[in-house]
Amino acid sequence: MLTLVALLSLIGSVAQTSAACTGTISSLADVTAAVACTTVNINSFTVPAGQALTLNLLTGTTVNMKGDIFFGNLSWAGPLFTVSGTSITFNGGGHKFDGGGPFYWDGLGGNGGVVKPAPMMKQISGTYSNVKVVNSPARTYSVSNPGPLLMTDLTIDNSFGDLPNAHSNGLAAGHNTDGFDASTTDLTIQNSVIKNQDDCLAINRGSNIVFKGNTCSGGHGISVGSIDSSVTVNGIVISGNTIINNDQALRIKTKAAATGSTVTNITYSGNTATGIRQFGVIIDQSYPDTLGTPGTGVKLSGVNFVAPVSTISVNSGADRVAVNCGVGSCSGTWNWSNLKVTGGVAGPINNFNGISGFSQ
Ligand SMILES: *[C@@H]1O[C@H](CO)[C@@H](O)[C@H](O)[C@H]1NC(C)=O
Ligand SMILES: *[C@@H]1O[C@H](CO)[C@@H](O)[C@H](O)[C@H]1NC(C)=O
Ligand SMILES: *[C@@H]1O[C@H](CO)[C@@H](O)[C@H](O)[C@H]1NC(C)=O
Repeated sequence: MLTLVALLSLIGSVAQTSAACTGTISSLADVTAAVACTTVNINSFTVPAGQALTLNLLTGTTVNMKGDIFFGNLSWAGPLFTVSGTSITFNGGGHKFDGGGPFYWDGLGGNGGVVKPAPMMKQISGTYSNVKVVNSPARTYSVSNPGPLLMTDLTIDNSFGDLPNAHSNGLAAGHNTDGFDASTTDLTIQNSVIKNQDDCLAINRGSNIVFKGNTCSGGHGISVGSIDSSVTVNGIVISGNTIINNDQALRIKTKAAATGSTVTNITYSGNTATGIRQFGVIIDQSYPDTLGTPGTGVKLSGVNFVAPVSTISVNSGADRVAVNCGVGSCSGTWNWSNLKVTGGVAGPINNFNGISGFSQ
Protein backbone atom coordinates (compact mmCIF):
# COMPACT_ATOMS: atom_id res chain seq x y z
CA MET A 1 0.00 0.00 0.00
CA LEU A 2 2.71 2.41 1.05
CA THR A 3 4.66 1.43 -2.04
CA LEU A 4 1.69 2.18 -4.29
CA VAL A 5 1.18 5.65 -2.74
CA ALA A 6 4.88 6.37 -3.06
CA LEU A 7 4.83 5.20 -6.67
CA LEU A 8 1.81 7.37 -7.54
CA SER A 9 3.33 10.43 -5.94
CA LEU A 10 6.58 9.79 -7.77
CA ILE A 11 4.69 9.56 -11.09
CA GLY A 12 2.79 12.74 -10.19
CA SER A 13 5.94 14.68 -9.41
CA VAL A 14 7.70 13.45 -12.54
CA ALA A 15 4.74 14.57 -14.69
CA GLN A 16 4.71 17.93 -12.93
CA THR A 17 8.46 18.38 -13.21
CA SER A 18 8.49 17.58 -16.92
CA ALA A 19 5.70 20.11 -17.75
CA ALA A 20 7.39 22.76 -15.61
CA CYS A 21 10.54 22.53 -17.72
CA THR A 22 11.79 25.18 -20.15
CA GLY A 23 11.84 24.14 -23.79
CA THR A 24 14.00 25.90 -26.34
CA ILE A 25 13.22 26.07 -30.04
CA SER A 26 16.10 26.82 -32.38
CA SER A 27 14.75 24.84 -35.35
CA LEU A 28 11.58 22.94 -36.27
CA ALA A 29 13.21 19.75 -34.95
CA ASP A 30 13.01 21.18 -31.41
CA VAL A 31 9.27 21.90 -31.42
CA THR A 32 7.82 18.56 -30.24
CA ALA A 33 10.00 18.36 -27.15
CA ALA A 34 9.73 22.06 -26.34
CA VAL A 35 5.92 22.23 -26.33
CA ALA A 36 5.83 19.54 -23.62
CA CYS A 37 7.08 22.33 -21.33
CA THR A 38 5.09 25.25 -19.93
CA THR A 39 7.90 27.71 -20.64
CA VAL A 40 9.03 27.86 -24.26
CA ASN A 41 11.83 30.08 -25.53
CA ILE A 42 12.18 30.68 -29.25
CA ASN A 43 15.58 31.59 -30.67
CA SER A 44 16.13 33.16 -34.07
CA PHE A 45 15.99 30.73 -36.98
CA THR A 46 14.64 30.29 -40.50
CA VAL A 47 11.66 27.97 -41.01
CA PRO A 48 12.36 25.93 -44.17
CA ALA A 49 10.39 26.99 -47.26
CA GLY A 50 6.98 25.33 -47.53
CA GLN A 51 6.89 24.43 -43.84
CA ALA A 52 5.08 26.04 -40.92
CA LEU A 53 5.97 26.78 -37.33
CA THR A 54 3.09 25.25 -35.34
CA LEU A 55 2.99 25.40 -31.56
CA ASN A 56 0.26 23.36 -29.84
CA LEU A 57 0.86 24.56 -26.30
CA LEU A 58 -0.13 23.21 -22.89
CA THR A 59 -2.67 25.32 -21.00
CA GLY A 60 -0.94 28.19 -19.19
CA THR A 61 2.28 28.08 -21.20
CA THR A 62 4.54 31.16 -21.36
CA VAL A 63 6.36 31.71 -24.66
CA ASN A 64 9.32 34.08 -24.92
CA MET A 65 10.73 35.11 -28.28
CA LYS A 66 14.50 35.58 -28.02
CA GLY A 67 15.16 36.35 -31.68
CA ASP A 68 13.62 36.91 -35.12
CA ILE A 69 11.90 34.20 -37.16
CA PHE A 70 12.20 34.08 -40.95
CA PHE A 71 10.16 31.91 -43.29
CA GLY A 72 11.68 30.39 -46.41
CA ASN A 73 10.08 31.44 -49.67
CA LEU A 74 7.78 29.07 -51.54
CA SER A 75 4.37 29.48 -53.14
CA TRP A 76 1.98 27.46 -50.92
CA ALA A 77 -1.20 28.04 -48.91
CA GLY A 78 0.24 28.38 -45.38
CA PRO A 79 -0.45 29.46 -42.67
CA LEU A 80 3.17 30.12 -41.73
CA PHE A 81 2.76 30.39 -37.96
CA THR A 82 0.03 28.85 -35.81
CA VAL A 83 -0.08 28.98 -32.05
CA SER A 84 -2.88 27.18 -30.24
CA GLY A 85 -3.66 26.72 -26.57
CA THR A 86 -5.55 28.43 -23.79
CA SER A 87 -4.38 30.95 -21.20
CA ILE A 88 -1.11 31.41 -23.06
CA THR A 89 1.25 34.30 -22.32
CA PHE A 90 3.18 35.06 -25.50
CA ASN A 91 5.95 37.63 -25.10
CA GLY A 92 7.39 38.75 -28.41
CA GLY A 93 10.09 40.88 -26.79
CA GLY A 94 9.93 43.17 -29.82
CA HIS A 95 11.21 40.41 -32.11
CA LYS A 96 9.75 39.86 -35.55
CA PHE A 97 8.28 37.28 -37.87
CA ASP A 98 9.37 38.01 -41.44
CA GLY A 99 7.01 36.50 -44.04
CA GLY A 100 9.20 37.22 -47.06
CA GLY A 101 6.37 39.22 -48.68
CA PRO A 102 8.38 40.69 -51.56
CA PHE A 103 8.94 37.15 -52.87
CA TYR A 104 5.15 36.71 -53.34
CA TRP A 105 3.82 40.19 -53.94
CA ASP A 106 2.43 40.77 -57.42
CA GLY A 107 -0.24 43.40 -56.75
CA LEU A 108 -2.97 40.73 -56.82
CA GLY A 109 -3.07 39.44 -53.23
CA GLY A 110 -5.61 36.63 -52.86
CA ASN A 111 -7.26 37.49 -56.20
CA GLY A 112 -4.74 35.80 -58.45
CA GLY A 113 -1.11 35.45 -59.34
CA VAL A 114 1.05 33.15 -57.23
CA VAL A 115 -0.48 31.26 -54.29
CA LYS A 116 0.46 33.11 -51.10
CA PRO A 117 0.56 31.67 -47.60
CA ALA A 118 -2.48 33.19 -45.84
CA PRO A 119 -3.17 33.94 -43.15
CA MET A 120 0.40 34.34 -42.05
CA MET A 121 -0.41 34.00 -38.32
CA LYS A 122 -3.14 32.10 -36.39
CA GLN A 123 -3.90 32.75 -32.74
CA ILE A 124 -4.44 31.49 -29.20
CA SER A 125 -6.23 32.69 -26.12
CA GLY A 126 -4.44 34.53 -23.34
CA THR A 127 -2.10 37.46 -23.91
CA TYR A 128 -0.06 38.03 -27.05
CA SER A 129 2.24 41.02 -26.87
CA ASN A 130 5.20 42.86 -28.35
CA VAL A 131 5.36 40.89 -31.57
CA LYS A 132 6.35 42.45 -34.87
CA VAL A 133 5.32 41.03 -38.24
CA VAL A 134 6.91 42.35 -41.42
CA ASN A 135 6.20 41.59 -45.06
CA SER A 136 3.26 39.21 -44.78
CA PRO A 137 2.62 37.52 -48.16
CA ALA A 138 -1.13 38.37 -47.93
CA ARG A 139 -3.50 38.44 -44.89
CA THR A 140 -1.58 38.75 -41.63
CA TYR A 141 -3.45 37.62 -38.49
CA SER A 142 -6.49 35.36 -38.48
CA VAL A 143 -7.96 35.45 -34.99
CA SER A 144 -10.46 32.87 -33.77
CA ASN A 145 -9.40 32.51 -30.17
CA PRO A 146 -11.01 29.75 -28.07
CA GLY A 147 -11.09 32.02 -24.98
CA PRO A 148 -10.48 35.65 -24.03
CA LEU A 149 -7.49 37.09 -25.88
CA LEU A 150 -5.61 40.35 -25.44
CA MET A 151 -3.35 41.32 -28.34
CA THR A 152 -1.27 44.31 -27.33
CA ASP A 153 1.69 46.40 -28.48
CA LEU A 154 2.00 44.66 -31.83
CA THR A 155 3.46 45.95 -35.07
CA ILE A 156 2.46 44.86 -38.55
CA ASP A 157 4.62 46.53 -41.15
CA ASN A 158 3.86 45.74 -44.77
CA SER A 159 4.68 49.28 -45.88
CA PHE A 160 7.33 48.04 -48.28
CA GLY A 161 4.38 46.66 -50.30
CA ASP A 162 3.14 50.20 -50.99
CA LEU A 163 5.66 50.38 -53.82
CA PRO A 164 5.18 48.62 -57.16
CA ASN A 165 7.60 45.82 -58.02
CA ALA A 166 8.62 43.99 -61.21
CA HIS A 167 5.54 41.70 -61.00
CA SER A 168 2.81 44.17 -60.05
CA ASN A 169 2.16 46.09 -63.28
CA GLY A 170 2.67 49.43 -61.59
CA LEU A 171 0.24 48.60 -58.73
CA ALA A 172 1.25 48.58 -55.09
CA ALA A 173 2.99 45.20 -54.80
CA GLY A 174 1.30 44.29 -51.49
CA HIS A 175 -2.44 43.51 -51.73
CA ASN A 176 -5.02 41.90 -49.39
CA THR A 177 -2.53 42.34 -46.57
CA ASP A 178 -5.28 42.61 -43.90
CA GLY A 179 -3.95 43.36 -40.44
CA PHE A 180 -6.41 41.35 -38.34
CA ASP A 181 -9.31 39.18 -39.53
CA ALA A 182 -11.45 38.41 -36.51
CA SER A 183 -14.21 35.79 -36.27
CA THR A 184 -14.37 35.46 -32.53
CA THR A 185 -15.63 36.54 -29.13
CA ASP A 186 -13.84 38.25 -26.25
CA LEU A 187 -10.98 39.81 -28.16
CA THR A 188 -9.15 43.07 -27.42
CA ILE A 189 -6.56 44.44 -29.83
CA GLN A 190 -4.83 47.54 -28.52
CA ASN A 191 -1.87 49.91 -28.78
CA SER A 192 -0.67 48.41 -32.03
CA VAL A 193 0.63 49.86 -35.29
CA ILE A 194 -0.58 48.46 -38.62
CA LYS A 195 0.87 49.54 -41.98
CA ASN A 196 -0.70 47.67 -44.86
CA GLN A 197 -2.72 47.70 -48.10
CA ASP A 198 -6.12 46.33 -46.98
CA ASP A 199 -8.38 46.34 -43.90
CA CYS A 200 -6.59 47.25 -40.71
CA LEU A 201 -9.19 45.17 -38.88
CA ALA A 202 -11.99 43.15 -40.49
CA ILE A 203 -14.58 41.64 -38.15
CA ASN A 204 -16.45 38.86 -39.93
CA ARG A 205 -18.52 37.63 -36.97
CA GLY A 206 -18.51 37.58 -33.19
CA SER A 207 -19.15 39.58 -30.06
CA ASN A 208 -17.36 41.59 -27.41
CA ILE A 209 -14.54 42.77 -29.64
CA VAL A 210 -12.62 45.90 -28.64
CA PHE A 211 -10.17 47.67 -30.97
CA LYS A 212 -8.56 50.61 -29.18
CA GLY A 213 -5.57 52.89 -29.30
CA ASN A 214 -4.23 51.46 -32.56
CA THR A 215 -2.68 53.30 -35.51
CA CYS A 216 -3.73 52.17 -38.97
CA SER A 217 -1.76 53.53 -41.88
CA GLY A 218 -2.01 53.11 -45.65
CA GLY A 219 -4.85 50.59 -45.93
CA HIS A 220 -8.63 50.30 -46.11
CA GLY A 221 -9.53 51.39 -42.58
CA ILE A 222 -11.33 49.67 -39.73
CA SER A 223 -14.10 47.37 -40.96
CA VAL A 224 -16.97 45.37 -39.66
CA GLY A 225 -17.46 42.88 -42.47
CA SER A 226 -17.65 41.86 -45.06
CA ILE A 227 -20.66 40.17 -43.48
CA ASP A 228 -21.83 36.94 -45.10
CA SER A 229 -24.98 34.83 -44.48
CA SER A 230 -26.06 33.44 -41.10
CA VAL A 231 -23.68 35.34 -38.86
CA THR A 232 -24.17 37.54 -35.81
CA VAL A 233 -22.09 40.54 -34.79
CA ASN A 234 -22.92 42.17 -31.45
CA GLY A 235 -20.88 44.38 -29.15
CA ILE A 236 -18.02 45.98 -31.06
CA VAL A 237 -16.11 48.92 -29.59
CA ILE A 238 -13.77 50.91 -31.87
CA SER A 239 -12.15 53.64 -29.79
CA GLY A 240 -9.19 55.98 -29.68
CA ASN A 241 -7.65 54.77 -32.93
CA THR A 242 -5.62 56.89 -35.34
CA ILE A 243 -6.26 56.24 -39.03
CA ILE A 244 -3.84 57.80 -41.49
CA ASN A 245 -4.01 57.85 -45.30
CA ASN A 246 -6.55 55.05 -45.68
CA ASP A 247 -9.23 54.58 -48.38
CA GLN A 248 -11.89 54.91 -45.67
CA ALA A 249 -11.67 55.48 -41.94
CA LEU A 250 -14.62 53.49 -40.59
CA ARG A 251 -16.64 50.99 -42.57
CA ILE A 252 -19.42 48.46 -42.20
CA LYS A 253 -19.77 46.29 -45.30
CA THR A 254 -22.37 43.58 -45.71
CA LYS A 255 -22.72 41.36 -48.74
CA ALA A 256 -25.61 42.14 -51.06
CA ALA A 257 -26.33 38.41 -51.37
CA ALA A 258 -26.13 37.61 -47.63
CA THR A 259 -29.21 36.30 -45.77
CA GLY A 260 -30.10 35.64 -42.14
CA SER A 261 -27.46 37.82 -40.48
CA THR A 262 -27.62 40.42 -37.72
CA VAL A 263 -25.14 43.21 -36.99
CA THR A 264 -25.87 45.34 -33.92
CA ASN A 265 -24.34 47.35 -31.09
CA ILE A 266 -21.33 48.89 -32.86
CA THR A 267 -19.83 51.79 -30.88
CA TYR A 268 -17.25 54.28 -32.11
CA SER A 269 -15.54 56.84 -29.90
CA GLY A 270 -12.51 59.09 -29.95
CA ASN A 271 -11.11 57.97 -33.29
CA THR A 272 -9.04 60.38 -35.39
CA ALA A 273 -8.59 60.04 -39.13
CA THR A 274 -6.68 62.15 -41.64
CA GLY A 275 -5.87 61.87 -45.34
CA ILE A 276 -8.90 59.68 -46.08
CA ARG A 277 -9.08 59.02 -49.82
CA GLN A 278 -12.63 57.76 -50.53
CA PHE A 279 -15.06 57.73 -47.58
CA GLY A 280 -14.86 59.07 -44.04
CA VAL A 281 -17.56 56.70 -42.82
CA ILE A 282 -19.18 54.17 -45.15
CA ILE A 283 -21.95 51.75 -44.27
CA ASP A 284 -22.72 49.76 -47.36
CA GLN A 285 -24.99 46.75 -47.83
CA SER A 286 -24.02 46.15 -51.46
CA TYR A 287 -20.62 44.48 -51.02
CA PRO A 288 -18.68 43.55 -53.15
CA ASP A 289 -20.02 46.53 -55.13
CA THR A 290 -19.48 49.92 -53.55
CA LEU A 291 -22.74 51.88 -53.24
CA GLY A 292 -24.40 49.44 -55.64
CA THR A 293 -27.75 47.71 -55.24
CA PRO A 294 -28.00 46.85 -51.53
CA GLY A 295 -29.25 43.54 -50.16
CA THR A 296 -31.73 43.24 -47.29
CA GLY A 297 -30.52 40.00 -45.66
CA VAL A 298 -28.32 41.60 -42.99
CA LYS A 299 -30.27 43.42 -40.26
CA LEU A 300 -28.20 46.38 -39.10
CA SER A 301 -28.93 48.40 -35.95
CA GLY A 302 -27.32 50.21 -33.03
CA VAL A 303 -24.45 51.98 -34.79
CA ASN A 304 -23.49 54.87 -32.48
CA PHE A 305 -20.79 57.48 -32.06
CA VAL A 306 -20.36 58.16 -28.36
CA ALA A 307 -18.07 60.62 -26.53
CA PRO A 308 -15.35 61.56 -26.99
CA VAL A 309 -15.91 62.85 -30.51
CA SER A 310 -14.47 60.96 -33.48
CA THR A 311 -12.82 63.44 -35.88
CA ILE A 312 -12.36 62.51 -39.53
CA SER A 313 -10.76 64.63 -42.23
CA VAL A 314 -11.26 63.44 -45.81
CA ASN A 315 -9.40 64.49 -48.95
CA SER A 316 -11.07 66.72 -51.51
CA GLY A 317 -13.36 64.65 -53.71
CA ALA A 318 -13.88 62.00 -51.03
CA ASP A 319 -17.33 61.42 -49.47
CA ARG A 320 -17.63 62.46 -45.86
CA VAL A 321 -20.31 59.89 -44.99
CA ALA A 322 -22.10 57.37 -47.20
CA VAL A 323 -24.87 55.07 -45.98
CA ASN A 324 -26.38 52.54 -48.38
CA CYS A 325 -28.92 50.37 -46.55
CA GLY A 326 -31.23 47.80 -48.07
CA VAL A 327 -34.90 48.74 -47.93
CA GLY A 328 -35.98 48.11 -44.34
CA SER A 329 -32.75 46.41 -43.23
CA CYS A 330 -31.32 49.27 -41.15
CA SER A 331 -33.37 50.13 -38.08
CA GLY A 332 -33.57 52.09 -34.83
CA THR A 333 -32.08 55.46 -34.00
CA TRP A 334 -28.32 55.79 -34.43
CA ASN A 335 -26.80 58.56 -32.35
CA TRP A 336 -24.01 60.19 -34.34
CA SER A 337 -23.73 63.38 -32.26
CA ASN A 338 -20.08 62.52 -31.52
CA LEU A 339 -18.98 62.31 -35.15
CA LYS A 340 -17.30 65.23 -36.92
CA VAL A 341 -16.24 64.90 -40.56
CA THR A 342 -14.57 67.64 -42.57
CA GLY A 343 -13.36 68.07 -46.17
CA GLY A 344 -14.64 66.38 -49.30
CA VAL A 345 -18.29 66.27 -50.24
CA ALA A 346 -21.51 64.94 -48.72
CA GLY A 347 -22.17 61.31 -49.65
CA PRO A 348 -25.52 59.60 -50.21
CA ILE A 349 -27.76 58.35 -47.39
CA ASN A 350 -29.99 55.67 -48.93
CA ASN A 351 -33.02 53.91 -47.42
CA PHE A 352 -32.51 55.03 -43.82
CA ASN A 353 -33.52 58.12 -41.86
CA GLY A 354 -32.65 56.99 -38.32
CA ILE A 355 -29.36 58.88 -37.95
CA SER A 356 -29.65 61.55 -35.26
CA GLY A 357 -27.33 64.35 -34.15
CA PHE A 358 -25.37 64.47 -37.41
CA SER A 359 -25.80 66.18 -40.74
CA GLN A 360 -23.29 66.65 -43.53
C1 LIG B 1 12.34 35.75 -49.31
O1 LIG B 1 12.36 36.63 -50.40
C2 LIG B 1 12.44 38.00 -50.04
C3 LIG B 1 12.32 38.81 -51.32
O2 LIG B 1 13.17 38.38 -52.28
C4 LIG B 1 13.75 38.25 -49.32
O3 LIG B 1 13.79 39.60 -48.89
C5 LIG B 1 13.84 37.33 -48.10
O4 LIG B 1 15.10 37.48 -47.49
C6 LIG B 1 13.64 35.90 -48.51
N1 LIG B 1 13.57 35.07 -47.32
C7 LIG B 1 14.45 34.11 -47.07
C8 LIG B 1 14.26 33.40 -45.76
O5 LIG B 1 15.37 33.80 -47.82
C1 LIG C 1 -23.39 45.85 -26.46
O1 LIG C 1 -22.03 45.48 -26.43
C2 LIG C 1 -21.43 45.53 -25.15
C3 LIG C 1 -19.99 45.10 -25.29
O2 LIG C 1 -19.35 45.82 -26.23
C4 LIG C 1 -22.14 44.64 -24.18
O3 LIG C 1 -21.59 44.81 -22.90
C5 LIG C 1 -23.61 44.97 -24.15
O4 LIG C 1 -24.28 44.03 -23.35
C6 LIG C 1 -24.18 44.92 -25.56
N1 LIG C 1 -25.59 45.34 -25.53
C7 LIG C 1 -26.57 44.57 -25.98
C8 LIG C 1 -27.95 45.16 -25.88
O5 LIG C 1 -26.41 43.45 -26.44
C1 LIG D 1 -27.14 61.47 -28.49
O1 LIG D 1 -26.07 61.53 -27.58
C2 LIG D 1 -25.88 62.84 -27.04
C3 LIG D 1 -24.57 62.83 -26.27
O2 LIG D 1 -24.48 61.74 -25.42
C4 LIG D 1 -27.08 63.21 -26.21
O3 LIG D 1 -26.92 64.52 -25.69
C5 LIG D 1 -28.32 63.15 -27.08
O4 LIG D 1 -29.47 63.37 -26.29
C6 LIG D 1 -28.42 61.81 -27.78
N1 LIG D 1 -29.51 61.87 -28.76
C7 LIG D 1 -30.47 60.94 -28.83
C8 LIG D 1 -31.51 61.14 -29.91
O5 LIG D 1 -30.52 59.97 -28.08
